[in-house]
Amino acid sequence: MTPARLLSALFLCLSLSSLGFFTVHSTAGFVNRSFAASGRHLTEENHFQKLNNLAHGYMTNSDLEKAIKAFHGRCGRISRIYSIGKSVLGVPLWVMEISNNPGKQEAKPAFKFIGNVHGDEPVGRELLLRLANWLCDNYMKDPWATLIVDNVHLHILPSMNPDGFSLRRRGNANNIDLNRDFPDQFFQMNNDLTERQPETKAIMSWIKKIRFTASASLHGGALVANYPWDGTQDKSKSYYACPDDEAFRYMAKLYSGSHYNMSRSEEFKEGITNGAYWYPIYGGMQDWNYIYGGCFELTLEISDNKWPPANELHMIWQFNKRSMLNLVASLVKSGIHGRIFSSDCGEPLPASIAIKGINYTTKASETLADYHRLVAPGHQYEVMATMPGYKTRSTTIKMGEEAMTVDFILEPTDRFLPRQCYNSSSMKMLEVISRPYFQVALTLLLVLAFLYFLTKRKVIFRGRKSVGQRRVAAIVKRTNCVICK
Ligand SMILES: *[C@@H]1O[C@H](CO)[C@@H](O)[C@H](O)[C@H]1NC(C)=O
Ligand SMILES: *[C@@H]1O[C@H](CO)[C@@H](O)[C@H](O)[C@H]1NC(C)=O
Ligand SMILES: *[C@@H]1O[C@H](CO)[C@@H](O)[C@H](O)[C@H]1NC(C)=O
Ligand SMILES: *[C@@H]1O[C@H](CO)[C@@H](O)[C@H](O)[C@H]1NC(C)=O
Ligand SMILES: [Zn+2]
Repeated sequence: MTPARLLSALFLCLSLSSLGFFTVHSTAGFVNRSFAASGRHLTEENHFQKLNNLAHGYMTNSDLEKAIKAFHGRCGRISRIYSIGKSVLGVPLWVMEISNNPGKQEAKPAFKFIGNVHGDEPVGRELLLRLANWLCDNYMKDPWATLIVDNVHLHILPSMNPDGFSLRRRGNANNIDLNRDFPDQFFQMNNDLTERQPETKAIMSWIKKIRFTASASLHGGALVANYPWDGTQDKSKSYYACPDDEAFRYMAKLYSGSHYNMSRSEEFKEGITNGAYWYPIYGGMQDWNYIYGGCFELTLEISDNKWPPANELHMIWQFNKRSMLNLVASLVKSGIHGRIFSSDCGEPLPASIAIKGINYTTKASETLADYHRLVAPGHQYEVMATMPGYKTRSTTIKMGEEAMTVDFILEPTDRFLPRQCYNSSSMKMLEVISRPYFQVALTLLLVLAFLYFLTKRKVIFRGRKSVGQRRVAAIVKRTNCVICK
């Protein structure tokens, strides 16, 4: 089979699974092509009709936009809304950010939820609106809501694929599967910028702009928490562990274990699966996040039925609520967190954090130099901070169930080259000094001072001794605060 045929067969198989013909997991890759060909036309029409009827009770795209704006209207104090771009058909991709300081740069981890990646999997977009409203209603009342709002920047994109939703199909308006549209680590694909879908582009630049520590995308068609890798180098369907396999298994189990019955799955042990072990995919969003975004992403399948009747949504929300809260809260309750500073000037250093034995690097933020590194609890870790121009430092910690704070102070490699240190307030002063109007004013002031000096020369000469002493004292003081040892 050519890749295109394979994809379309897979697509049909996934569509059929939601009609209850068979389940996707047991049959993926084994579609009887003659059946598929003869059944396609009829099936797609019925399928659309059925989904159209099912859409009753679900938010339309414009309902969703209204709901997002209404949420912000109600909860503006702990939220902001913004769009990360537009779909092919021009629908804005709205994000709700929830935090006690929305939009501010802070030394806190960020989490993102993405729903409706596949147009015909709309449960996620409904659940995410419920999540946002629940957090708003329970802030300062419920300890979980308060913990999340106060300590995490939570970004929620309810629909990544609004066009696919309105067309009642998996792909976007160009019929591209967005979860196959990202650059891939093993194969040269999706690297042509002109071909990349606007929804994918929007997600990629969003991830580059905001440093997410972890995330989850919500899908339907099964009940399982899927973790990287999603693809294998040789295209085989087999367990393919990423460097942070243990941390991912911990995250996935946290989700399935807090869910109503995900962990009781008969098909997936403990309700979790390695992506490639289930079925390998290429160009997926999850692996891209981990490799290029520094973000630990799970792919959550939250409902066996892709498009259940709307009266089941409340129940599905109840089944997932604790898992969703636990997953976001794990960014505060577990993992290693800290900041990195220089020993000479004390300024924040955007260093790299690595753990011995795990081939993965976490970057601290450019401005505040905070980092947030998820790890599996119950082990000893040697944590290393590296920064060009500074000596690498490492420290060994024993992780229990709790989060740990590990700050680093790095020493410059060359101690004999003292640097000029500027703290942020002296930085601001420098900025003011470099402005043109300031320089004009300064020149005028100097001219005036000179004239004053000419008229008062006698007085100054008479008082020479004391002036000289004061000047020396001033220089010593400046040496102390501007140049480092
Ligand atoms: C595929 O389906 C067709 C039509 O239903 C049937 O005649 C044929 O035997 C099937 N082939 C296999 C390999 O199952
Ligand atoms: C979980 O519960 C739902 C609703 O009762 C049910 O449809 C589903 O089959 C259950 N799944 C598992 C894995 O127990
Ligand atoms: C670490 O991962 C990179 C890719 O991210 C790879 O190129 C390199 O070979 C790996 N190193 C080891 C020692 O496995
Ligand atoms: C920064 O420098 C200014 C002036 O030298 C000083 O007054 C201030 O206390 C310094 N701030 C910090 C945080 O070190
Ligand atoms: Zn999906």
